Amino acid sequence: MPQHDVLVIGAGLAGMRAALAAAEGGANVGVMSKIHPVRSHSNAAQGGINAALNPEDSWESHAFDTVKGSDYLGDQDAIEIMCREAPEEILHLEHLGVTFHRNDEGKLGTRAFGGASAARTYYVADITGQAILHVLYEQLMKHEEVYRYEEYFVTALVQDETGHVAGAITRNLRDGSMELFNAKKVILCTGGNGQIYNPTTNALVCTGDGIALAYRLGAPLMDMEMVQYHPTTLAGNGLLITEGARGEGAHLYNAEGERFMEKYAPNKMELASRDVVSRAEQTEINEGRGFPDGTVHLDITPVPRKRIHEALREIVMVARDFAGVDILNEPVPIKPGNHYVMGGIKTDTDGLCPVPGLYAAGETACVSVHGGNRLGANSLLDTLIFGRRAGAHAAREAKAIAMPTAAHSQLEDEQRAIDTIVRRERSGRRVSEVKAELGRIMDAKVAVYRDDEGLKEALEGIKRLQEEAKTVAIDDKGTVFNQDVLGALELGFMIDNAEAITVAALERKESRGAQYRTDFPERNDEEWLKHITVTHHGNGNGNASSDDVPELAYSEVTLTQWQPEARTY
Ligand code: FUM
Repeated sequence: MPQHDVLVIGAGLAGMRAALAAAEGGANVGVMSKIHPVRSHSNAAQGGINAALNPEDSWESHAFDTVKGSDYLGDQDAIEIMCREAPEEILHLEHLGVTFHRNDEGKLGTRAFGGASAARTYYVADITGQAILHVLYEQLMKHEEVYRYEEYFVTALVQDETGHVAGAITRNLRDGSMELFNAKKVILCTGGNGQIYNPTTNALVCTGDGIALAYRLGAPLMDMEMVQYHPTTLAGNGLLITEGARGEGAHLYNAEGERFMEKYAPNKMELASRDVVSRAEQTEINEGRGFPDGTVHLDITPVPRKRIHEALREIVMVARDFAGVDILNEPVPIKPGNHYVMGGIKTDTDGLCPVPGLYAAGETACVSVHGGNRLGANSLLDTLIFGRRAGAHAAREAKAIAMPTAAHSQLEDEQRAIDTIVRRERSGRRVSEVKAELGRIMDAKVAVYRDDEGLKEALEGIKRLQEEAKTVAIDDKGTVFNQDVLGALELGFMIDNAEAITVAALERKESRGAQYRTDFPERNDEEWLKHITVTHHGNGNGNASSDDVPELAYSEVTLTQWQPEARTY
């Protein structure tokens, strides 16, 4: 059985940064990913990464903007760490070879981003995530102590008899073989869960795998109700049109030709935080001032052409190829669309989660640095800072313990569960049908505006889909790259994620950050300045069942320097 001191699951930016830090800490590392690492969803991060590197800026200012952006739900100790360590991380990436934009003086140049009081977003045109991903992958290949398992899918985590995580059960997607990997420490870095919504900016791989793996083990999920809708997603398919466009000077207009952000955020206008801009757009659309196709327009023509070609070239192609729009000459129809989950597996600032031996970092985790709403360009930063911290901590801790015992019986259980899916005769719905209905439910009822009735209907639908997912049949009965099996397994993970989000959204009876309850329209610090955690007490593996009731609990928000204030932009 393969054995590693540290097994990292997921190889986007958080996973690769964690693997590198663990290897530098002297650990023998395995890094596993269901796709090739450079195809990870970190690729899709267009606009940049924040750091207060400029002498006129300060980490305190970055931290305050992040706290305010989070609508005071972010934990300020964690935010301070992230913002303090950000400049060094950018310089480290630069030294590794990330080709960050340089200004006319040849210095690292920045662009403005939403909710920030200074232009502190460092970028590589509008392909920043992709640029960093490739450089980290080069570093990973250099390390002999890092074993890469590409195109492996984890179906379950394994614990020893004391409850310490002892490894993972994996399926090699190339040939369908199953294996038990033994590890002293496991770090989950599998990204977010955007695929439970339709449309979404997220890649097809973002099915909340790590979040569900931890949930099934009894790990608490925190802030799950906080789901970000990005203000500028392409109408029809949800593709991302970077916030960098507004940072460079693009404007938003309704169908009456009004630059409507004047009403909602007179100071920051289009560069208010994402929850504020998305709500403003949705209000315009709901109140009949949108375009007939349910959109508003983003006009990029105020940005000089040379600058568009230099700094926004990816979205020139995205708008042209997927909407037939030439952004150099005409506005592009956009609307708010699912983009990011602020919640995730509850961890401390070293990535440790309450299940012994288990860590999480990046979008999979909730430290919580984003609280109720993440600022644009803070997610790449989160992946790198907390990926590195988790990898370093896991390597240190792994040195002090022996390899935990992983029982083979769970491998047989997982193999049997997959055999059952493969052999099942068609009687129920297809995976794609159940997934499509889940996406519709979430986008209709657990979106920018929410209320008790809609959330209850959503939960009812999710519970029904939980049962239907147990009878889905698949067409491909083979073993080589069987995407049907993968889809059926991911579907179970997605439904677990949807359940946790909806249960938490029902529980939070106030409006804060991305959670806007039309039946509780005010922020209520007295009762709700606290995190909600959702814990599943299932059997440790297999889908949650429709009669399971997840347990809800609360934890305090850590305040250091900043008391909650009214939030205006
Ligand atoms: O708009 C964007 O470029 C997205 C960036 C982010 O989510 O951080």
